[in-house]
Amino acid sequence: MVKRLEGKVALVTGCGSSGPGWGNGKAMAVLFAREGAKVYGCDIHLDAARETESIVREEGGAMSVAQCDVTDPGAVEALVQDCVTTYGDIDILVNNVGTARLGGVVEQSLEDWRLVFDINLTSMFLTCKHAIPSMLRKGRGASSTSAR
Ligand SMILES: NC(=O)c1ccc[n+]([C@@H]2O[C@H](COP(=O)([O-])OP(=O)(O)OC[C@H]3O[C@@H](n4cnc5c(N)ncnc54)[C@H](O)[C@@H]3O)[C@@H](O)[C@H]2O)c1
Repeated sequence: MVKRLEGKVALVTGCGSSGPGWGNGKAMAVLFAREGAKVYGCDIHLDAARETESIVREEGGAMSVAQCDVTDPGAVEALVQDCVTTYGDIDILVNNVGTARLGGVVEQSLEDWRLVFDINLTSMFLTCKHAIPSMLRKGRGASSTSAR
């Protein structure tokens, strides 16, 4: 079987699952590895990321994980550096981490508004800021998001 991501390096944020079973990030990490990618995953909860890593490794795939809060600028910079050191320059960036606060502007608190922007948007600014130079070195790359 041809593996569509053979030789590719994928960085997946939120690669764990917040509940039992499968979340988007966990499923993408496992499927990318099945397609031959080397997957570097992060999660704010390391144990959740480790569970995904175990699934990939038990299937014979390549995956490493790190604890990282994707709203933390220094942590994201270190994350991307470690991904590149571990597997080489990045082909695929999945900005999977996301959140939602329901309700209209009247009910919403400013604190929640800022939290959603930090988690959904600033996190992508940070990962792209550090991953795009890696993609430029390769001359190609792709980035996507689950959260918006
Ligand atoms: N566009 C759509 O149709 C659609 C559908 C489903 C989910 N979503 C969005 O995609 C997001 C991810 O989906 P999922 O199924 O993987 O969710 P999930 O909650 O199962 O997994 C997300 C993971 O992200 C981690 N995480 C949370 N905050 C983090 C942070 N600041 N830094 C690093 N990791 C963090 C959690 O610990 C969790 O393991 C959801 O939050 C939702 O906003 C979008």
